[in-house]
Amino acid sequence: MCGIVGYVGEKRAAPLLLDGLRRLEYRGYDSAGLAMITPTEGGGYELNVIRRVGFVAELVKAVPENLAGRAGVGHTRWATHGAVTEANAHPHVDSTGRIAVIHNGIIENFASLRAHLEEEEGVKFRSETDSEVLAHLVRKFYTGDPLEAVRSALAVVTGTWGVAVVFADHADLIIASRNGSPLVVGKGDGETFLASDPHALANYTRSIVYLEDREIVKITREGWEISRLDGRPVSHAIEELGIELGSSEKGSFPHFMLKEIHEQPESLSRCLLGRVVPETGGAKLGGFDLTPREIVAIRRLGILGCGTSFHAGLVGATAMEQLARLPAFAEIASEFRYRNPVISADDLFLAVSQSGETADTLGAIQEAQTKGGRVMGVVNVVGSTIARTCGRGVYVHSGPEIAVASTKAFTSQVAALLVASLMFGRSRMLGPGEGRAFGADLLAVPGRMASWLDANATSHTGPIVDAVELLVNARFVFFLGRGVSAAVAMEGALKLKEVAYIPCMSYPAAEMKHGPIALIDKQTPVVAIVPDDQMRDKTLSNVQEVRARGARVILIHTEGDTEAAQLAEVAIAVPRASALITPLLSVLPLQLFAYRAGLALGRDIDRPRNLAKSVTVE
Ligand code: M6R
Repeated sequence: MCGIVGYVGEKRAAPLLLDGLRRLEYRGYDSAGLAMITPTEGGGYELNVIRRVGFVAELVKAVPENLAGRAGVGHTRWATHGAVTEANAHPHVDSTGRIAVIHNGIIENFASLRAHLEEEEGVKFRSETDSEVLAHLVRKFYTGDPLEAVRSALAVVTGTWGVAVVFADHADLIIASRNGSPLVVGKGDGETFLASDPHALANYTRSIVYLEDREIVKITREGWEISRLDGRPVSHAIEELGIELGSSEKGSFPHFMLKEIHEQPESLSRCLLGRVVPETGGAKLGGFDLTPREIVAIRRLGILGCGTSFHAGLVGATAMEQLARLPAFAEIASEFRYRNPVISADDLFLAVSQSGETADTLGAIQEAQTKGGRVMGVVNVVGSTIARTCGRGVYVHSGPEIAVASTKAFTSQVAALLVASLMFGRSRMLGPGEGRAFGADLLAVPGRMASWLDANATSHTGPIVDAVELLVNARFVFFLGRGVSAAVAMEGALKLKEVAYIPCMSYPAAEMKHGPIALIDKQTPVVAIVPDDQMRDKTLSNVQEVRARGARVILIHTEGDTEAAQLAEVAIAVPRASALITPLLSVLPLQLFAYRAGLALGRDIDRPRNLAKSVTVE
């Protein structure tokens, strides 16, 4: 979603800001802009604001190569209030043109503030955004002290913000504040950086501080001073930005999505490394910091997440029930937070998130915590808001996931939840022999994945190609599965929607006959996920039902299951694994379907329309 970068220092700021914005591109956005504090011929300073609709590349073209100025802010906007236009792009300036604001989040009372500014202050608004009110409010309260002006402006605002403000009167200064939308400051040598995502700073500094909600910071080239919005001073120890595991460059791959699909054997190995303990048949997740006695005392487990992370949670909840006999459920975080859930002290919640910044998931965590529930994170991005809000939890170690469509994070999230289920299981119901067998099967997955990807991912002929041909010509596609494969079906449908924009639907296979089967006609491709598990025969009966209505069946089955394969127009074999582990393998062809269908249809694979990598608004 929206991204913020800022720089104050000795160097020319524009190239650094543009580089930072490029590093934030993966988050999803539709316009970009920057505001530079540039010297004038008269010896003063002015603001130079440049904005463009479209990619950062468009902004780069518009910024003069030698644009002067050693301080400035840059922004990528993902539209919420107002269309995708240059006027709505950030930065927004006040009516004097000497104060510029960039903003992530939503100003909830913007309509009344705007009316007040128009009627009482005679302000002429130039955009449809909620954010523009901030520029005019800062101006209203500005009497020469930038920090106090921003503090006063934010005092009348309700909503969420990561905001950064520059003033032409103060050439070496940025004022920034956070409330519900992340900001991080980074220290260089005679220079200071600001960003909404530490990823933007990784090339420049490793010494960082995460702002907390309702804090405001005065940033100069010498460093920063942080205080609360109510004026109390704050001091945060500088943290070391972790080295990113895995690369955020595309390398020889045409798209990040394809690269990330291929990285899964490696990212999965990283996630499992040292966590499965063959000697005891158990598992160790130090970040959970739970004794066996505490594990036994848990009465119910809730897994919270959105999108792909929710799908991983569905697999995790099933695994917890089966391996640990612990009542478990997965729930979409945005629903959980507003249904006034009943929570007791012996409940444990796991919040699953790749980015660690998803506003809906964060809201659900806060709701669970408010009601006295314990929440632990299952997160990819180290130091992210969700990881810090939970305090305890595990990192899934996928490495940077840049493509908007999540692939390697899903398999690592599933793996981390399976490891947690094994760990909990050994303290509850699972014997050492069963635990050892499950652990061994899990550790074998990266190798099996690698062989499968080698054989299938780049091939120009074969069942993946045949399946994609059916999918790209379809008006509508059905995904079916049962048990953990129902979650895989949901994930496959989500991928095909977001990357290829093909309308599709996933359904637990048996439930389909209660209504959705009416949608099936002779042209409808049905992707059925049918591993050789206890549900296989039942799911094959459902496949027969759609075949009887003329559906064109694409079937994902276990290697060697020729009987299942015979029911399909296109059959795709994946390696054998124990039932709960099958999602790690059966999702691979579905990821490739989405990638290849998107490619065939000329979609913007890594940055699908309307989507953001990190969804920081509700
Ligand atoms: O960063 P998170 O895992 O919390 O993100 C949750 C969803 O927004 C995310 O999984 C989304 O559904 C992906 N685009 C799916 O590919």
